[in-house]
Amino acid sequence: MRRPILAANWKMHKTVAESVAFAKDFAPRVAGARDVDVVIAPPFTALAALGGALAGSAVALAAQNVYFEEQGAFTGEIAPGMLRELGCGYAIIGHSERRTVFGESSELVARKAEALLGHGIRPIVCVGESLAEREAGRTLDVIRRQLAESLARIPAGRAAEVVVAYEPIWAIGTGRTATPAMAQEVHAQVRAELRARFAEAGDAIRIQYGGSVKPDNVRELMAQPDIDGALVGGASLDPDGFARIVRFDAR
Ligand code: 13P
Repeated sequence: MRRPILAANWKMHKTVAESVAFAKDFAPRVAGARDVDVVIAPPFTALAALGGALAGSAVALAAQNVYFEEQGAFTGEIAPGMLRELGCGYAIIGHSERRTVFGESSELVARKAEALLGHGIRPIVCVGESLAEREAGRTLDVIRRQLAESLARIPAGRAAEVVVAYEPIWAIGTGRTATPAMAQEVHAQVRAELRARFAEAGDAIRIQYGGSVKPDNVRELMAQPDIDGALVGGASLDPDGFARIVRFDAR
C-alpha cells in the first residue's frame, strides 16, 4: 500500500508572518490525519520560520527548487545541504513553471534529483504536457520522455524515496481539472514506465496529481488506483481548504 501524500506548493505566495499564521491555524486541523503524509512547500524565505511553527506536528517541510552543486559561485541558488539544515524532507523539482518560465531541462532535473537523494531529501519530480501537446495526441510520448530523462540518475535502490507529480500544464491555475479518468489514464502510464525502469520499486513510488485540485474534487481523484496524492497550488493557500484536501476521505 502506498501512503497518500498531500502537498501544498505555495509558489511565490506568503511572507514569513503569513506562513507562521497559516501553520498555527492549519496544524491543529490535521492533527488527527495519521495515515497520510502532509507536506508544505513555502517560498525559501519562509522555510526556517515555517519549520519552527510546524515543529511537533507531523507536517513535513519542502523546498520548491534546489541547485545540484554542494556550494560555490552560483548566485541566487540554494544547495541541498542548506535545505537539509532547515529540516526539509522534500523538494519539488522540474515544476512546469520552472521548465517554461526559467527554461529548466529534464537533464538539470535529473541532477537535482540525484543531489537531493545524496542529502536524504525526497525529490518530488514534476512532469506534464502542454495543451498543444495534448491536442496533438502527444501526451504519453511527452510524459515518457520527461520521466526517462528526469529519473535517469536515480538508482533502483533509492527509487521508492522519489515522488512523481503529474501536472498537466493546461490544468494548472485554470480551474480546469483533468477528469479522474483522464488523470488515471496518464498515471497508469507513469506507473508502467516506473515499473519498467525500477522493477518492484516502481510500485512503491507515489504518483501525485496536480492541477486545480480543490476540496470538492480531491476525493474522486484520490479514488483512482494510480493516484496516490495531490500537489496543490491555489487551494493550498487557505488553511481550511488545504485541511479539507488532506482529509479527502473525510475520516
Ligand atoms: P493549482 O492547484 O493552483 O492549479 O496549481 C497546481 C500546481 O502547479 C501545484 O504544483
